[in-house]
Amino acid sequence: MKGVFLVTGASRGLGRSIALEVAKSGNTVIALARPSIDLDNVESELQTIDKESIAIGCDMALESEISTAVTQIKQRFSHLSGIIHNAGTISPISNLMDAPREVWERAIKVNLVGVQDLTQSLDSIIGGQSHTRILTISSGAAQRSLHGWSAYCVSKAGLDMWTKCVAEEGVNENISAVAIAPGIVDTAMQKEIRDADESDFPLLPNFIDYYRNGELSNPDDVAEKLLPFCLGESGENGDRLDVRNL
Ligand SMILES: NC(=O)c1ccc[n+]([C@@H]2O[C@H](COP(=O)([O-])OP(=O)(O)OC[C@H]3O[C@@H](n4cnc5c(N)ncnc54)[C@H](OP(=O)(O)O)[C@@H]3O)[C@@H](O)[C@H]2O)c1
Repeated sequence: MKGVFLVTGASRGLGRSIALEVAKSGNTVIALARPSIDLDNVESELQTIDKESIAIGCDMALESEISTAVTQIKQRFSHLSGIIHNAGTISPISNLMDAPREVWERAIKVNLVGVQDLTQSLDSIIGGQSHTRILTISSGAAQRSLHGWSAYCVSKAGLDMWTKCVAEEGVNENISAVAIAPGIVDTAMQKEIRDADESDFPLLPNFIDYYRNGELSNPDDVAEKLLPFCLGESGENGDRLDVRNL
């Protein structure tokens, strides 16, 4: 049966690939990101596959924009079969002691607090009589501290535990939650990492080598692997997985 899936960070990179993959599997997609031409283009691409799919502009750092987005979603759809929490930012890449407070805080909001805000606000149209799968896009940085990535590491570690908490409480609500780390994927985020200053990010040469040696995976290939987990067909409630082991 056709379902409705919300994909955050769908304007480019992995989120765009996930959104298109979910639509191609016969579902409607709500593609969320900040307003941009990229997001408009994704909406057009989605609508050639599924006419009911839409894009919604929303800054995940802003509670007021999340609230407006949720109103738009609820006006149009009565139930979500899945939420793919993919939106994320790696910024600031900076020594912890030098990180600008507002940028550090913003990362925690986008990667973690916004995820809670969005999900909580959608409470009335998830779970219940029909199942909802919540998939969070994790990172190796959730389990390993990397010099210069403090806000990212902290927020992704928090997101892993948030996912486990949803899994715990979702059991009686017909909601399942799974976190998956996607590996190293060839997206704008990896370019931002390679553009960092080595004094802020001592592992920079390793990430340049991964790129030069062709070790980054293609976002479309990763999205294909993630699809059954997005749809709730694979993955046990509470799992924390890595794409490279699937
Ligand atoms: N690439 C990797 O190697 C890698 C590895 C591990 C985990 N991940 C995770 O995979 C996910 C996707 O990353 P990616 O590599 O595809 O990165 P990306 O190319 O930089 O895309 C990030 C997406 O998140 C959205 N986003 C960022 N800030 C936002 C905000 N304030 N409000 C709403 N949307 C926002 C962006 O949209 P706009 O900027 O247009 O709003 C974009 O669609 C992230 O959660 C990332 O942490 C990536």
